[in-house]
Amino acid sequence: MRKILATSGLVYANGPLHLGHILEQIQTDIWVRFQKLQGNDCIYICGDDAHGTPIMISAQKQNITPLQLITEMKESHEKDSAGFLIDFDNYYTTHSEENRELTNLIYQRLQENNDIETKVINQAFDDDAKMFLPDRYIKGTCPRCKSPDQNGDNCEICGATYSTTDLIDPISIISGKPPVQKSSEHYFFRLDKYASFLKTWGKKSLQPEIINKLNEWFEQGLKSWDISRDAPYFGFEIPDKPGKYFYVWLDAPIGYIASSKNLSLRTNINFDEYWQPNSTAELYHFVGKDIIYFHALFWPAILEGANFRKPTAVFTHGYLTVNGQKMSKSRGTFILAQDYLKHLSPEYFRYYLAAKLSPGIDDIDLNFDDFIKRNNSDLVGKVVNIASRSAGFINKTFNGMLADKLDAPELFAEGIKLAEKIRASYEARNYSSAVRSIMQLADLTNQYIDEKKPWGLAKENPNNRGIQNICTMGINMYRLLIIFLKPILPLLATNSEEFLQVPPLAWEDHKTPILQHKINEFKPLMQRIDPKSIELILA
Ligand code: 2FM
Ligand code: ZN
Repeated sequence: MRKILATSGLVYANGPLHLGHILEQIQTDIWVRFQKLQGNDCIYICGDDAHGTPIMISAQKQNITPLQLITEMKESHEKDSAGFLIDFDNYYTTHSEENRELTNLIYQRLQENNDIETKVINQAFDDDAKMFLPDRYIKGTCPRCKSPDQNGDNCEICGATYSTTDLIDPISIISGKPPVQKSSEHYFFRLDKYASFLKTWGKKSLQPEIINKLNEWFEQGLKSWDISRDAPYFGFEIPDKPGKYFYVWLDAPIGYIASSKNLSLRTNINFDEYWQPNSTAELYHFVGKDIIYFHALFWPAILEGANFRKPTAVFTHGYLTVNGQKMSKSRGTFILAQDYLKHLSPEYFRYYLAAKLSPGIDDIDLNFDDFIKRNNSDLVGKVVNIASRSAGFINKTFNGMLADKLDAPELFAEGIKLAEKIRASYEARNYSSAVRSIMQLADLTNQYIDEKKPWGLAKENPNNRGIQNICTMGINMYRLLIIFLKPILPLLATNSEEFLQVPPLAWEDHKTPILQHKINEFKPLMQRIDPKSIELILA
């Protein structure tokens, strides 16, 4: 039995979940559920990323304290994730005592290694708001194309990237006044010391596309990383440095450790087995490609410096696009998790993503025509159809009893053979390949039923034992399909277990058919998607 810890990215506590967050959580959740189904000891750790300037400003704007804001947001995030059937073992927050202690400990160990250097730097400062300004809080005219009202570090019109000091007529978006330059002492993590460690770690822990990206960064040379921020800031104050705070991106990934710590304090999970440097447990981070710099450089280097175990692998995924384009508020395609859940079952989205997810970093497009077609034709038309066309006869004529043998053992054997391929696909996060194999098996089963035509036999003699044999075969194939689909469709699996009158299915169960066994009355297990619900989501 493998011991595994998997994480999804910690969610910023300054807004509700959208379908992009859900993509990552579904990708992770399917993998974790698959591992558990295999009998592995796998825990799924996540939580809110509660610190930083945007959260501080957002609370100010709403006239509430940051603590109030992050408490509300965490509740909202947990509710939405649960709505999509995401089964965390722990959902915690980076604003916790566990995280403060771990962050201090890690910082102290880095200091002892001489990994922290001090530099005085000049930065934009808002003299009205009395705060230093992150790039995104400064706007101005693009130095290249002269378009007004552009971001602090890049122009949306001509695509130029620049430093905020190059902006023409810069203003602070907080006070509307031009920022001034002000110097301040900052603490930097010496990433360059870890270059050779990172090269070796990266080769065995990252996808090929990410290794290439890393090589570009190595060629450019690794720069020290500013891990401090000045007050006012919502975060952890650096010990013995009044007015200085740890930058949110330092304590955010430490939140993975803190969330595990918190779980270990509440359960019999052994913290050290996961995080000590000699840990034999596997550790996997699922992340979006926008934050790979943090997870493939800073994070492993900091763990190495602070004498914690390193991630076994970082699994990077692409973005979610909607109808071929970036999610956009103005196009009405910025879809919040809660808006989706008001109108559609979470399992349609889970299935759709699974059918498209590969181990690569390509973007995943949510195309609603395709979404409707796939769910209706695969799940309703192929899979659930097998149960409904078989159960009718078994329930009506044979009192719910399955026959004592399989009518087509070679078809069942085909399922057992495919199980290994499906298992390997799940393991490699190649869910689209797993889904293709599963649907292949569903097609074979429907062909089998079409050829045997139990309805024809029933017309001649409803009590013909042949009908019971054929439908017993159908029910057993349905059960195989449900075992294989269980990581993706946990609700359908639970409802099917009830229909089949079997205890929760495990992966190994696919090897043995159920015979001379009484099943329940069949109730519709999945509805077709009504295109109207899509209009409501996009409205
Ligand atoms: O990019 C983000 O949404 C961050 N909140 C992810 C943090 S992941 C981890 F490092 F905490
Ligand atoms: Zn420009």
